[in-house]
Amino acid sequence: MADVRRLARRRAPRVVFDYVDGAAEGELSTARAAEAFAGVEFRPHVLRDVSRVDTGTEILGRRVAMPVVLGPTGFTRMMHPAGERAVARAAARAGVPYALSTMGTTSARDVAAAAPGGWNWFQLYVVRDRGRVREWLRQAREAGMDVLVVTVDVPVAGGRLRDVRNGMTMPPSLRWGGLAQAMTRPAWWFGFLTGEPLRFATVEGAPDDLAGITNLMFDPAVTLRDLEWIRAEWGGRLLVKGVQRVDDAEELVAAGVDGLVVSNHGGRQLDRSPTPLELLPEVAAAVGDRTEVFLDGGVRSGADVAAAVALGARACLVGRAYLYGLMAGGEAGVDRVLAMLRGELVRTLALLGASGVDGLDADVVRLR
Ligand code: FNR
Repeated sequence: MADVRRLARRRAPRVVFDYVDGAAEGELSTARAAEAFAGVEFRPHVLRDVSRVDTGTEILGRRVAMPVVLGPTGFTRMMHPAGERAVARAAARAGVPYALSTMGTTSARDVAAAAPGGWNWFQLYVVRDRGRVREWLRQAREAGMDVLVVTVDVPVAGGRLRDVRNGMTMPPSLRWGGLAQAMTRPAWWFGFLTGEPLRFATVEGAPDDLAGITNLMFDPAVTLRDLEWIRAEWGGRLLVKGVQRVDDAEELVAAGVDGLVVSNHGGRQLDRSPTPLELLPEVAAAVGDRTEVFLDGGVRSGADVAAAVALGARACLVGRAYLYGLMAGGEAGVDRVLAMLRGELVRTLALLGASGVDGLDADVVRLR
């Protein structure tokens, strides 16, 4: 994955790479997520028959090829012109779900048409205009998306200092230094200039900087009552993404959600927020018998996926991992990242003495 990330850095302009790679404030949460995964020690069983290893599992009652979900990410066509369509196709081929973001640059209908065999989800940011929310839910439903992921850790935009320094705007308005650097990425420019104009599929008439869009659009007054309204409007399965405390998890389960994502948005929102992998066991112990608990933040390998599942996750969402693949090599890059995650998961399971994902439990890991 480090090599894929390096290749991504070489292919995409710095302003784009930094938008993906960066995080909020001092980027402490992102660094801690990586440290947490590094601190996992496996406790393998030997002399187990692992001649056949199956990475398949069930998420929300449906079979998937491995416990991985391609998480929602905004502006995906900026990373590569193939954008969300490429990601959805790669997910469908790999047999894992993909969640389209509210901040996506491809409509729900176009994503569904690009990957008709895939399991596509929709991620919702609750904006002030509830009519717009209702319209997005309708479009997602019509596109066959049957799981809604409501992200709740963005009452206001995070302070992403790399973006501020780079003048990261929509579309990008680079300063001279950034522009000069971007000139050294002609293939990216060619794709950017010859592709469909980069448009935010969902926001009209918004200011052109990221924090401005976020603060104008996203409703900082959203509470549990709004979630109940969304649940009623949606009528299908609903996950809440951005859970960072056990008591909030309890409250959400009592409110009837179908699943929770223990997540701090990849460290892109509140810096110094709890490290998801460290919080996961507590949340899983408290509500894991009543709901499906997912994790994201810092998942970069199949061994990381195995660690998270062993510590209580039903599956992991990944963000940057597939975006590095997309920047490095378009659709083939996302395919490659998914193949790597799967290959590493197979190898980790075999070396752990587990022939399947159900062999991943608290007994096979220790936090150093
Ligand atoms: C995100 N993330 C995100 N989450 C969300 O709910 N809606 C969104 O629009 C976005 N946009 C977005 C853009 C980019 C460039 C990144 C990297 C991330 C957060 C994402 O879904 C997920 O929580 C994190 O990416 C998980 O951490 P890792 O896997 O990137 O370490």
